[in-house]
Amino acid sequence: MTRFKTLDDLGDVAGKVALVRVDLNLPMQDGAVTDDTRVRASAPTILELAGKGAKVLLLAHFGRPKGERASTLSVSMTLDAVQAVLHEEVMFIPEITGPVVEQAIGILQPGDIAMLENTRFWKGEEANDPDFAAAIAANGDFYVNDAFSAAHRAHASTEGIAHLLPAYAGRSMEAELKALDAALGNPAKPVAAVVGGAKVSSKLDVLKHLVTRVEHLIIGGGMANTFLAARGVDVGKSLCEHDLASTAEEILDAADKAGCTVHLPYDVVVAKEFAANPASLRTCNVHEVAPDEMILDIGPQAVEALADVLKTCRTLVWNGPLGAFEMAPFDTATVSLARSAAALTVEGALVSVAGGGDTVAALNHAGVADDFSYVSTAGGAFLEWMEGKELPGVVALEQA
Ligand code: 3PG
Repeated sequence: MTRFKTLDDLGDVAGKVALVRVDLNLPMQDGAVTDDTRVRASAPTILELAGKGAKVLLLAHFGRPKGERASTLSVSMTLDAVQAVLHEEVMFIPEITGPVVEQAIGILQPGDIAMLENTRFWKGEEANDPDFAAAIAANGDFYVNDAFSAAHRAHASTEGIAHLLPAYAGRSMEAELKALDAALGNPAKPVAAVVGGAKVSSKLDVLKHLVTRVEHLIIGGGMANTFLAARGVDVGKSLCEHDLASTAEEILDAADKAGCTVHLPYDVVVAKEFAANPASLRTCNVHEVAPDEMILDIGPQAVEALADVLKTCRTLVWNGPLGAFEMAPFDTATVSLARSAAALTVEGALVSVAGGGDTVAALNHAGVADDFSYVSTAGGAFLEWMEGKELPGVVALEQA
């Protein structure tokens, strides 16, 4: 398990200024936040620090403004959602360094919370410029990183600053790292990984790493077609990266050598068009896909077999849907296997950890997100962690 300081290691923080990195990169529609999960994840850290009398300054990015101010990407767009979750008033400070921030800190009372402007309005953020990090740090007494989902970025507010102030992991960061350690770092075996999604090319490093870490690799989604095609199966019109056939072969060979069983579907749900409940919908063996059909989900026999595999496992890591789950009935396999995993978790037979944008949406759709042992708030950071990479934001906390 990784070693870093947590809020339990803080002394008296009354009146001190806490610079708290959170992830406010929230989905929005028509100016309103549509999913406040990340705010809810960091609320315990923010409220704990405020409750102990710290002046809490939130640091966060929003979108990718590339070092320029852009009114549509002000982090203040998230202010209402943050206040609603915290049930506290949050002061917005339209700067991140300098006298405006200093003055605001002078006005804040112990226990007050403020939000600094989008870290990415300044080029020094993504460049991890030491001077920029020092200018942010100058206004704080200590730093807390509660943004696991941004920890794969070596930026000034996620990495550089951790070397300049006493640095601590927030409660959400602590929980993420503990869950991820239980899933791949030091898991109860056997371990199964479900990797789905459209393309092998986006998850090559994930697959290469996982075959060396898990006993069962379950491949679903469009990427399963690439593996099936590499094995000589005619996948018809299915989404498939034919140019990656040899890469798929290499992954299968590596799995073989490592003693990892790769599970590919042997029955599939196909249709001639991607539409809700199309007339051409049918289930067939993978060897019976017609040239004008496409595979849109894993079939019921394969799902049953996969549920049996999960029954033999003690740990599950899940990233990506098994089929084109955004349209019924191609959500069937994902929903069914997610429910099996959730039931095993509730029984205490399985530790289940899931992450990645689509995955969380799929688990919510299946109504089982709360039954998984842990659902990560991270997208890109979760994938990099599944690739076995060290995350700069986490490493900086360990070194602090
Ligand atoms: C995310 O939304 O996954 C994180 O906030 C990181 O955002 P980024 O991909 O723009 O760095």
